[in-house]
Amino acid sequence: MKDDREAAASSLADSGDRPAYILAIETSCDETSAAVVRDGIHILSNVVSSQVEIHQKFGGVVPEVASRHHVETITLIVEEAMEKAGIEMKDLSAIAVTQGPGLVGALLVGMVAAKTLAFSHGLPLIAVHHIAGHIYANQLVHELEYPLVSLVVSGGHTELVYVESEGRFHIIGQTRDDAVGEAYDKVARALRLPYPGGPHVDRLAHEPVEALTLPRAWLEPDSYDFSFSGLKSAVLAALNSASMKGQPLEPAAVAKGFQDSVIDVLVNKALRAVEAYGAKQLLLAGGVAANKGLRAELGARCAQAGVPLLAPPLSLCTDNAAMIAAAAFLKLRRGQFAPLDVKAEPLLKLEGWSVS
Ligand code: KG4
Ligand code: ZN
Repeated sequence: MKDDREAAASSLADSGDRPAYILAIETSCDETSAAVVRDGIHILSNVVSSQVEIHQKFGGVVPEVASRHHVETITLIVEEAMEKAGIEMKDLSAIAVTQGPGLVGALLVGMVAAKTLAFSHGLPLIAVHHIAGHIYANQLVHELEYPLVSLVVSGGHTELVYVESEGRFHIIGQTRDDAVGEAYDKVARALRLPYPGGPHVDRLAHEPVEALTLPRAWLEPDSYDFSFSGLKSAVLAALNSASMKGQPLEPAAVAKGFQDSVIDVLVNKALRAVEAYGAKQLLLAGGVAANKGLRAELGARCAQAGVPLLAPPLSLCTDNAAMIAAAAFLKLRRGQFAPLDVKAEPLLKLEGWSVS
């Protein structure tokens, strides 16, 4: 398949005809991942070591435990990624790493590993914003057309991003409290479902029961922001009052009511943004992109609006290093490298890359 990305890749400025191999590292939360991607689109390896089982007994990610696990596994994961890719360090064009946002201790592990590799092998370092990675995960499987709007939904993020052109990001809406995945996990916990709860709530929401009626947080009429903590509190209040009356609610009815409310708000705001910004595509990204109800409703509404909905396969929706390599490739083409004293930034803002 020859498309624009192939053409762009083969005209890579820095290396003439030589392919660009990027080794990327992602450790912003509870996944230790390393990947090798050729020319920004061909995944040679994408190794992900998930800590879900470790954090399960705590019902959520414990930052210190996450950092320790990253330290223990990062070397092995990088070695495995290089081995699977079948290339050597001398073949690489750059080392890429997630700079933020994320858990500071977790980010630091990836950052130190990436700097060490870059320094010892004389390779340029590319610092990538985690959300830019989620957005450009789509570039690994689709050709992108600008302007576009991306809905980034995960355990840590709920953002509507208007991407005017390559690397020119504008956050037009974001959560004012809980991230959508976080709300899913908290509601799942109240329903005594295992962590992470999103997939379990999604499954229950598809059972043939009548949904519990729950509020929608639309906020101000023109706002693209989100709020999920009121909805989560409404779920907890409904569960408490029902159990005090001795008439516990059916978990599936609660899951369905919660999911209906979340999807209603996400889909309507995303489609309003698509129209207002004249987006040519809507990109879905982040772990909650796995949600069947969300995909179905967004797909139907995008079809009505005549705008393609793009979503990467699930393995590229959740945290992984291939998405960091995909975004890093665009920065490589622009010559946007990071100094070796670049810092991990737990609250890093998504800023547009200056046009070079
Ligand atoms: O992107 P991700 O792997 O990690 C973060 O960066 O947060 O997202 C994980 C989140 C968790 O909160 C999980 O419950 C949620 O994605 N999730 C889902 C589904 N699958 C995963 N939420 C709703 N429905 C799903 N099917
Ligand atoms: Zn993420």
